[in-house]
Amino acid sequence: MSQSPAIRVERLAKSYGAIRAVDGISFEVRPGEIYGLLGPNGAGKTTTLSMLAGLLHPDEGRVLYDGLDLAADPKKIKAGIGVVPQETAVYESLSALENLRFWGGLYGLTGGRLSAACTSMLEKVGLTQRAKDPVKSYSGGMKRRLNLALGLVHEPRVILLDEPTVGIDPQARLNILDVIRDVAAKGTAVLYTTHYLEEAEGLCDRIGILDHGELLAEGTLAELETMVGEGEVVTVHGRFDAGDISMHIGRLEGVRLLAADEQQLVIATDAPAAQHGRRRSRSLELLETVLEGDFQIDSVSIRPPSLNGLFLKLTGRELRD
Ligand SMILES: Nc1ncnc2c1ncn2[C@@H]1O[C@H](COP(=O)(O)OP(=O)(O)O)[C@@H](O)[C@H]1O
Ligand SMILES: [Mg+2]
Repeated sequence: MSQSPAIRVERLAKSYGAIRAVDGISFEVRPGEIYGLLGPNGAGKTTTLSMLAGLLHPDEGRVLYDGLDLAADPKKIKAGIGVVPQETAVYESLSALENLRFWGGLYGLTGGRLSAACTSMLEKVGLTQRAKDPVKSYSGGMKRRLNLALGLVHEPRVILLDEPTVGIDPQARLNILDVIRDVAAKGTAVLYTTHYLEEAEGLCDRIGILDHGELLAEGTLAELETMVGEGEVVTVHGRFDAGDISMHIGRLEGVRLLAADEQQLVIATDAPAAQHGRRRSRSLELLETVLEGDFQIDSVSIRPPSLNGLFLKLTGRELRD
């Protein structure tokens, strides 16, 4: 049985003046799936999410929810979407309960259903004890948890989250990730943007790698890792003349310099080469060459295929926190 995707994004594009923030991206999210948009600052995550939330009009392309074009009936479709924005959208002078009642009311909940939804959400995000205190007395992590609760209070079929765990304590992060897994397990489609590799790896069923508004690769973690190939990523720290060492490395086969400056080299190596009937690691060959040269080497790391490796391979940059 084929199930139509909960979210379908078709060739979506948006420019701000000369900046093409989102450059014609397409992807789908199925019911119950957590889809991660992984990319560094400025990749276009918030712009994408704003268009999906119906807050920003795309220049090109379209967004379908359960096969219906968002532009055709935005009001009705938006009622079934939960949005958790990057900046918390909570009223500081109100309590968590009052914030929840306000948002639940906006989504049409009333009476017993509204009260039950608020109680349940407070419990889920661990704010029951503090429910009646004004939000301005909350920690950053508590505000983030409330922000999540506000996006979920009307039990949307689709939820869009924009970096919901940035800058919070580990405990609040774990709570937020648990709640997201929980709603997905109940069939909600989740679009989750992040610049944290570990979150994409640990949380998302499928991941799209976004950079400069383009979706560079997409798949499950296992699928993405195979795209890196069997090779490794070698990082060398030290002091060296970047031009000199590039030339040195350029003579080797099966080795590609991804990034170089005076203190760091990042090099991708291909799968081991067969030589005299033995498989010989390209990374070791590379290190021999580097060590033979007149360079000061402080440390070396060799990493197996990983999402970080794939990001490096695709963009030539590290995705750092
Ligand atoms: N309102 C805006 N006006 C002009 N440029 C913007 C605006 N919002 C975002 N941008 C630019 O668009 C690009 C994508 O931004 P954004 O979608 O916020 O990325 P991310 O959320 O991945 O950090 C960046 O180059 C950013 O500077
Ligand atoms: Mg953003």
